[in-house]
This record gives sequence, structure tokens and C-alpha cells, in this order.
Amino acid sequence: MVGALAPAPGRVIVDGTLGGAGHTRLLLEAGARVIGIDQDPYALNRARTLELPNLTVLEGNYRDMRELLSGIGVTRVDGVLLDIGVSSFQLDDAERGFSYHTEAPLDMRMSRSGESAADVVNSYPEEELAAIIYEYGEDRHSRRIARAIVAAREKAPITTTVQLAELIKRAYPGFSKGIHPARRTFQALRIHVNDELGALRDGLEAAETLLAPGGRLAVISFHSLEDRIVKRFLRGSPTLKPLTKRPVEASEAEQAGNPRARSAKLRAAEKVPPPHEAPGVTP
Ligand SMILES: C[S@@+](CC[C@H](N)C(=O)[O-])C[C@H]1O[C@@H](n2cnc3c(N)ncnc32)[C@H](O)[C@@H]1O
Repeated sequence: MVGALAPAPGRVIVDGTLGGAGHTRLLLEAGARVIGIDQDPYALNRARTLELPNLTVLEGNYRDMRELLSGIGVTRVDGVLLDIGVSSFQLDDAERGFSYHTEAPLDMRMSRSGESAADVVNSYPEEELAAIIYEYGEDRHSRRIARAIVAAREKAPITTTVQLAELIKRAYPGFSKGIHPARRTFQALRIHVNDELGALRDGLEAAETLLAPGGRLAVISFHSLEDRIVKRFLRGSPTLKPLTKRPVEASEAEQAGNPRARSAKLRAAEKVPPPHEAPGVTP
């Protein structure tokens, strides 16, 4: 998927979601210089220990990439990659509270700061909880789940993943097997706690400004909420020209190597001059 960024010697590419540095390695192997950003201090520590040449690691939110890059004297780049969502490291680390299968504190903060998922479920009004579960989890039983959360927290605070998952299971009508009833609520809380959709909107704008003409943007998303934002942004952008009409899905080989890639969608675009600056056009 990194081919869409046209990595090559002399090109500077921002990997806004460094994670386990899998994509970054491929970009480096193609000869690019990479500036890797991640808001997760654990991911950054791991990436730093890899000591990859031509990689600069920055801690922060990719929505602030312009400020982060200007801090190291970079104002123009040739590529921006956003591979959004959580990493398998984060999902597998039970202590982070992203998984409803393993008992852990109900946290879900990628950056380890700000409001945790436990703060949200124990303090938000029922209506607001239902709206979050409906909007970010697309769960049609959102009101029922919100009601069950409020009833449970009146007895005792909800502090762990399994405690929340179990109460959702009990509140869910007709659950027998298949997708766990807590899956959508966990996704919704994660998106809310990390303001993932707000970060994506800001990150797209920042990338559009930072890219040099001929520069490439590549965004890998995992669900329709994210893909819709990217699609609309590209449609409204006067300077980002999509490289493909439809989003590109991972190849069979990529899916075999990484099961997460099964629902991944890539949209890529190239920066062109705004219409009034195009050669031969007078404003
Ligand atoms: C799906 S993983 C990226 C995996 C990476 N492409 C690789 O090949 O290993 C997403 C990573 O982006 C980070 N992340 C998610 N949203 C972010 C944001 N708004 N700003 C900075 N990092 C973010 C997460 O902490 C996580 O480490």
C-alpha cells in the first residue's frame, strides 16, 4: 500500500501513525526519509529502539503535524501516510483496556492523557452515551445499552473492560453467538476518547497544506465512518487529486500477513496547484 506514496531517495514522507513502524520500514527501504509521528509513548519507545536510519521520531497527535514538523524546521513534505485506528500492539496489550475479552482497567487512551473510557461511562448523561454509541458504534441498541450503563453505575462505578462487556451482553437482546455485543460500544468509546474522527479531519487539512506539488497523501481506514470523511475531504479539495476512483483494498498477500488488513481501505491523492495557479489560467 505504501507504493501510492511514491517513496524514493530524496523524498520526505510523514508517517503520521508510526505504530510498529511496518509501513515506515518499507518507505525507508525505498530510500525515503521518514518523519514518524505517534501519540502513544509506548509505540514511540519501541520505534526508537529500532534505530532505523533516516527516521526522525516525533511524539504528538498527527492533527498537529504542521506544528510538530515546524519544530524541526520542516515546512514542506513529499508524502503523508495515515494508517488510522489502533495498532495490534495496543489491542494485544490488555492493560490498555481496548479489548473486551481481557480484564483490564477501562482506559482506551492512546496518548495516555485526557479522559479515559471509564471517565466517560461513569460521568456522561445517558442521552450523550446513547448518542456516542449510536454515532461511532452504529449500534441500533444504543439507548438500551446506555440505560444499562447508567443503571449499573448507580450501584458501583464501572472500572474494567469485562465489567462493561458483561453488562452490555446482559442488556443486549437475542445475543447467542457471533459478534460480541460489546464490540460496537468499545469501538464507539475508543473513537470518542481519542477524538479519532476530529483528528482525522484536522490531519487531512494539515497534510493538504504541508504537501509540496506532486506530493502524495495516502490514508488507510478501517470502517465506513473514517472512509466517508476521507472521501468527502478529497471531493471538496481543490488541490488533492485522487489517484483512484474507488478505495483500494489490501492484496491477498497483505491480508494473509495481517488479518487486520481485511477491512482496510486505501485512498490516495496527489497534490496539484490550485486551479487559479495552474499554468495558463488567469484568475
Ligand atoms: C494502525 S496503527 C499504525 C501501524 C503502522 N502503520 C505500522 O505499519 O506498524 C495506528 C498507530 O497510530 C497511532 N495513532 C492513532 N491516531 C493517532 C493520532 N491522531 N495521532 C498520532 N498517532 C495516532 C496509534 O497510537 C497507533 O500506534
